[in-house]
Amino acid sequence: MTKGNIQVCLAARPVGMPTDSDWEIRHSPVPVAGEGQFVAEVLYVSVDPAMRGWMNDARSYIEPVAIGAVMRAGGIARVTESKHDGFAVGDHIFTMTGIQQFIVSDGKDIQKVDASLAPLPTYLGVLGMTGLTAYFGILEVADLKEGDIVVVSGAAGAVGSVVGQIARIKGCRVVGIAGGAEKCGYLIDELGFDAAIDYKNDDLHKALRAHCPKGVDVFFDNVGGDTLNTVLPMMRFHGRIAICGAISQYNNTSPVKGPSNYMSLLVSSARMEGFVVFDFAKRYPEAIKAMAGWMAEGKLISKDQIEEGIENFPSVLLKLFTGGNFGKLILKNTAAD
Ligand SMILES: NC(=O)c1ccc[n+]([C@@H]2O[C@H](COP(=O)([O-])OP(=O)(O)OC[C@H]3O[C@@H](n4cnc5c(N)ncnc54)[C@H](OP(=O)(O)O)[C@@H]3O)[C@@H](O)[C@H]2O)c1
Repeated sequence: MTKGNIQVCLAARPVGMPTDSDWEIRHSPVPVAGEGQFVAEVLYVSVDPAMRGWMNDARSYIEPVAIGAVMRAGGIARVTESKHDGFAVGDHIFTMTGIQQFIVSDGKDIQKVDASLAPLPTYLGVLGMTGLTAYFGILEVADLKEGDIVVVSGAAGAVGSVVGQIARIKGCRVVGIAGGAEKCGYLIDELGFDAAIDYKNDDLHKALRAHCPKGVDVFFDNVGGDTLNTVLPMMRFHGRIAICGAISQYNNTSPVKGPSNYMSLLVSSARMEGFVVFDFAKRYPEAIKAMAGWMAEGKLISKDQIEEGIENFPSVLLKLFTGGNFGKLILKNTAAD
């Protein structure tokens, strides 16, 4: 059977949680390489909370996805046809493939990846954008120091699980916040966290007091909203809060809930700083080297949740907002098997 190109395109700007009518599944022919171009078949795409922000028509660190355009996504692809001197058939690459089965490229903004060094999905997780976010967020933005008491929200997710493991490697006490007993058990039993709080069933305030009686030096926040507000008064002198994300607020139809406890920053001479991983783009190689080393030593565990079928992207995306993912959420193009 001749292959086609399934593309998931943005049909409308969602209000609240995205629905099926916000998407159009388009079937088009496989692109053909012109002179100086190559075609690649997408193998895996990264499914990220940030996608929800890219669907809004609002000022951000990146342009919104246009209505009618293929949904933006980072992905791993394999070159299937090449008229480009720098890329041969069979090469594996990372680029912003979008949610589709094939891309055509002139070679700009493409990184080659080595399938013999790590499983390909790892380049979307620990050795990809979420791992890099964790690395620079905890070590640079939060200015982690040995012995710090660290709290991380979204702790069983792609970024949070790496943050907590790095903090353990650096000799810190680490408390994770995650939804459900299974995720909390995993943090302690598999990842070596010192404690975990199930925010869906525990009283977060009481549990933080129990697990961090001296307060918190570093809070790495992926969630925002009530979680951020509850941790703020726990901050110690010269504490640091890294604002990585605020997933609890991404589908709001009302304004983002700000932290009323922000005066805690003043009384603790603490600081709160946001960041985008791209701020550290020039230093990615150093982070990848360090994390690949920790993985090889068995100190850093990568957990991926691989869902199947590019056309299933609309429902897979929602898993991020319902806690239906455990580790790095990735979508596999099963047609590429
Ligand atoms: N600043 C940057 O450059 C950068 C880069 C990448 C990611 N991020 C941000 O980092 C955060 C984590 O991203 P990720 O890719 O690692 O996703 P993830 O943590 O793997 O998946 C999202 C998780 O968020 C939790 N969640 C969803 N809704 C929630 C709510 N209302 N309250 C509390 N928790 C909720 C769920 O876990 P539970 O089951 O535990 O609820 C879900 O599994 C996101 O905020 C993302 O936007 C920032």
